[in-house]
Amino acid sequence: MSSEAGRDFQHWMRQIQTSTETALSACLPVETSIPARLHTAMRHAVLGGGKRVRPLLVHAAGELTGAPSGTRTRAACAVELIHAYSLVHDDLPCMDNDALRRGKPTCHIAFDEATALLAGDALQTQAFFVLSHFPPEDAPEPRQQLRMLALLAEASGSLGMAGGQAIDLAAVGKSLEQPELELMHALKTGALIRAAILLGALCGPPLAEVEEVALDRFAKRVGLLFQVVDDILDASASTATLGKTAGKDAASVKPTYVSLLGLSGARDYADALRRDTLDALSCFAERARRLIELADFICRRNF
Ligand code: IPE
Ligand code: IPE
Ligand code: MG
Ligand code: MG
Ligand code: MG
Repeated sequence: MSSEAGRDFQHWMRQIQTSTETALSACLPVETSIPARLHTAMRHAVLGGGKRVRPLLVHAAGELTGAPSGTRTRAACAVELIHAYSLVHDDLPCMDNDALRRGKPTCHIAFDEATALLAGDALQTQAFFVLSHFPPEDAPEPRQQLRMLALLAEASGSLGMAGGQAIDLAAVGKSLEQPELELMHALKTGALIRAAILLGALCGPPLAEVEEVALDRFAKRVGLLFQVVDDILDASASTATLGKTAGKDAASVKPTYVSLLGLSGARDYADALRRDTLDALSCFAERARRLIELADFICRRNF
């Protein structure tokens, strides 16, 4: 990427991160509304941190289909609310037992376990409220909107993120073969990343069937890539850069791409996945520019 293209991407990314923050804040009850402790915990979990990769993917895919920005923003908020809920529950003592998230105390440390559990529950339902209530000027076509709701529900549930988390917990202390590990990653992280991309596309006019297939192939590969890089960073980056405790996977004896392939094998695999993602987008040419830039960012990030 030329340095000018790099600056343009950084500018685009920062703009979306800022507008996402404002929109998410407007999607959540204010801290003083009763029950104030629960609402404060929800805002703690969602606002003031995170790379906002899923909202960025919603916008990039939406820009590809020519979707209006208000529609993309609302869909982006819905996906990010599900993601924030999944992090709150992922950090609970009964799951990964983490004390640091996005450079701040995790929700159950800043509040308490019961509040964190409820904050996660409420963020999950708020996501579906947001996706079912668009301002009239931003509303997608009703059939598209129903597809969006079904897609997000499926990606979050037992056949998606929650199912992947169940496999992750059951795999502690075991060494999985690559196909099993791939399934776990595709579900726990890939499903929601894929949903972000497909939701973004659904915010605009329908794609041709061959384009839908290509975008879905990209979405699946980039979802897996995201978690492979998360595994690599857990083993190679510092707690200060990550904003979450480094080295947790090895300490908790979790099967990861690093435990399976070693650090340099996992890096090679991430590079191969990144090439696959670029391949999948070839039919879109210049329209896929932001998605290509995001796949690069996801692969090369250091946090
Ligand atoms: C972390 O996700 C959890 C995974 C699914 C791997 P992110 O790396 O997107 O976390 P934030 O949103 O930037 O904090
Ligand atoms: C989390 O995977 C996936 C979900 C939250 C669904 P990890 O457990 O690897 O995420 P981090 O490393 O805690 O962010
Ligand atoms: Mg986990
Ligand atoms: Mg975790
Ligand atoms: Mg991790």
